[in-house]
Amino acid sequence: MAVITTVDDLKRIYKRRVPKMFYDYAESGSWTEQTFRENTTDFDQIRLRQRVAMDMTGRTTKTQMLGEDVAMPVALAPVGLTGMQSADGEIKAARAAEKFGVPFTLSTMSICSIEDVAENTTKPFWFQVYTLKDDDFMQRLMDRARAANCSALVITVDLQMLGQRHKDLKNGLSAPPKLTVRSVADMMTKWSWGLGMLGTKRRFFGNIVGHAKGVTDPSSLSSWTAQAFDQALDWDRIAQLRKMWGGKIIVKGILDVEDARKAVNVGADAIIVSNHGGRQLDGALSSIRMLPDIVDAVGEQIEVHMDSGIRSGQDVLKAMAMGAKGTYVGRAFVYGLGAAGEAGVTKALEVIHKELDTTMGLCGETDVNALSRSNLLIPADFRGRWET
Ligand SMILES: Cc1cc2nc3c(=O)[nH]c(=O)nc-3n(C[C@H](O)[C@H](O)[C@H](O)COP(=O)(O)O)c2cc1C
Repeated sequence: MAVITTVDDLKRIYKRRVPKMFYDYAESGSWTEQTFRENTTDFDQIRLRQRVAMDMTGRTTKTQMLGEDVAMPVALAPVGLTGMQSADGEIKAARAAEKFGVPFTLSTMSICSIEDVAENTTKPFWFQVYTLKDDDFMQRLMDRARAANCSALVITVDLQMLGQRHKDLKNGLSAPPKLTVRSVADMMTKWSWGLGMLGTKRRFFGNIVGHAKGVTDPSSLSSWTAQAFDQALDWDRIAQLRKMWGGKIIVKGILDVEDARKAVNVGADAIIVSNHGGRQLDGALSSIRMLPDIVDAVGEQIEVHMDSGIRSGQDVLKAMAMGAKGTYVGRAFVYGLGAAGEAGVTKALEVIHKELDTTMGLCGETDVNALSRSNLLIPADFRGRWET
């Protein structure tokens, strides 16, 4: 690997190595991409308070997320089609996470199945479900996740319908990719990706094909997804899913104080303040802007996590100092995976860890759990004055 010093370095290599269709799939937001952009630029508005002559020895980034020990408060977010970014991508990412000591979350829309990941790892991982109408299928998914020893269920609530990403439509995104003159010409220049894909049988949605009624082959999948997602989802349904699972649940996709309170009321163990990485409601505020209000409202009653826009350890520090108890990275680990497989994911985690650790020291902090808003310089109008 070339000398990698930032997550952005990994992104540049990733862009060269992975077919455009899958690069674009990750590197896009819905519609104008305003929310996607602001997720990262809003982090830049927050500055750090430099402190000196404070003993910075014995620093630790260790903490807990959902009662589980983590080497740093950074989990891998559920990312659909990860196995299209690199052959067997979910297995590679899960292994990197396990070795690093951070949680891995497997998406419903993964290429490797729950069983594939369980067979290739040794520690429990988290499983993410979309809220689907088909109760039998939901029950079977949960049974499979339980059998695979998954220690938490992440229920994604911000995707009752799909936000439109223009590039996916224009590229004709599919898994496996459709063979058109354009896609074949592109893939021929991404030979290491292609060799990897030829060497694995995992090229379809492993949790769905052959498991959902009526989906016996990949071609019937698109009609299934169009009718499967539950637009009628409400908090009663989330409470019902919690009962069906019977273990810890994390409600993912909260961006509003009222919704955060409702998640507390249904007995969620944690929430993820998230706008799905800017892929759903374009025009919504960035997660980091919404985080302080939500922490202030429910932070004493529930564990508040956040994602969307984290590209560095400094971003992790800002989120933790704002009151989050944990963070997730989506694209940051995908860049690493596409750039260099498992080693690339490890590299992304190492870069983030080093940035977090160094920044803590230079802010005069030795314990990631002790970070607070007093470490930050937050613009006076950061939360915004919005009329509703
Ligand atoms: C390519 C891609 C696919 C995603 N697929 C899922 C998914 O299947 N389920 C889900 O809950 N979130 C999904 N997300 C959202 C992520 O879990 C996470 O919220 C988001 O990536 C965080 O923003 P970041 O990429 O800026 O870190 C996806 C995100 C990306 C970039």
